[in-house]
Amino acid sequence: MSERTVERLVSAVPTSDGAGVRLSRAIANAELDHLDPFLLLDEFRSDDPNDYIAGFPDHPHRGFETVTYMLAGKMEHADHAGNRGLLTSGGAQWMTAGRGLIHSETPKQEDGLMWGFQLWVNLPAANKMTAPRYQDIDPSAIPEVTIERGSVRVIAGVFGGATGPVQGIVTDPVYLDVRLDALGRFETTLPEDHTAFVYAYQGQGTVGAAVLEPKSLGVLSKGDTIRATATGSDFRFLCIAARPLNEPIARYGPFVMNTREEIHQAFDDFRNGRFA
Ligand code: FE2
Repeated sequence: MSERTVERLVSAVPTSDGAGVRLSRAIANAELDHLDPFLLLDEFRSDDPNDYIAGFPDHPHRGFETVTYMLAGKMEHADHAGNRGLLTSGGAQWMTAGRGLIHSETPKQEDGLMWGFQLWVNLPAANKMTAPRYQDIDPSAIPEVTIERGSVRVIAGVFGGATGPVQGIVTDPVYLDVRLDALGRFETTLPEDHTAFVYAYQGQGTVGAAVLEPKSLGVLSKGDTIRATATGSDFRFLCIAARPLNEPIARYGPFVMNTREEIHQAFDDFRNGRFA
């Protein structure tokens, strides 16, 4: 057994996206461009509707997956093929964009707290042009495992005998939402060769010698076991891992492919209506 430690600590950067949604970007910023296979991680958290009400009007994606996990609030998803879904507090959506779709992500509330995360996970070359697929996960479908002084919601992967509802993803992801009370301890084993990170979003805790505050992302070293301890009450963080692809990344906005030619093709397909 080798312990995974925090080999790098990155702070999320305030930015805005969509039609002016304010958010904190922990992956895909100047400090951390990507973390193979993860391409982007955003946290949106505000109780001021001006920060989120405009949402994300129609935009395309190709070549990767987006994972939205809501802690609070309501967000509607609709695409050009007629797929529609409502994300509610505690729910998730794992969307495989594959060869392409055009969709909107719209807040369905006019006041109150909107809090959640969007993660982008890359697809291997062989799967980039797969058909789009949605896994809409109702809050009640996410198992919650009680641990000593805490609890863990399992969105993807396995923890404490519970299997997350997200299935059949090429990179074999683990996506855990961990909550620890004061002095609570969390421990899990992750596949040794998988890229893994923790993202703290409330309270304070430690992984090895690293202190994690809200909006800090700890890139974990290779190894198998990760241990986290809460130093205060209500320490909350995401623990995420997946198999790295080790493939070239050509990226432009909402398109993530392997070569520049494929990016040009994506633009051409989008402009000429071959996405919808
Ligand atoms: Fe999107």
